[in-house]
Amino acid sequence: MSQINASSKTPIDVLPRHMEFPYAQMQTKDFFDNNCLKSAYMAAMSATFPAGEGEFIESVRMFRDQVQDKELKQQIKGFIGQEAHHSLQHKRFNEALRDKGYDAVRLEEVFEKDLEWSIKGRKDKERLGFTVCVEHMTAVLAYDFLTKPERMDGMDPSIKPLMLWHAVEELE
Ligand SMILES: [Fe+2]
Ligand SMILES: [Fe+2]
Repeated sequence: MSQINASSKTPIDVLPRHMEFPYAQMQTKDFFDNNCLKSAYMAAMSATFPAGEGEFIESVRMFRDQVQDKELKQQIKGFIGQEAHHSLQHKRFNEALRDKGYDAVRLEEVFEKDLEWSIKGRKDKERLGFTVCVEHMTAVLAYDFLTKPERMDGMDPSIKPLMLWHAVEELE
């Protein structure tokens, strides 16, 4: 079996950070700029994160034993830790969204089943390829969020730190 080496010598620390956010303090159902469309969009996106991030972790874990490079091994460990925390925090956010009237928890379960169905019979490399593509998309979104902070104008202060933290770690 071929070995996987770090493709870049640029040192990147991928650090999982344990965070807590005050979701229960969310003021209104329209938590994003008092706008039902923007809020529903964000709620729907959050509903896909727990299952999506679970698949990212699993698809990378399948290749972990083939990696010998110390730095890359450390980055994989950090990546798995980060995504596990994102998943947990978005689960909590989805519960808070449910309490405000969004169907986020049910949507989360539906998406989990859809994802299970769509990866059935897929090769490990295809699953890893899917993760690489989607992680690239999340990094593009995160870069946009962080370089144009006005994108988050009007977001409830109980939710904004979750989005900023997730964006920073997606870029790592
Ligand atoms: Fe994430
Ligand atoms: Fe990610």
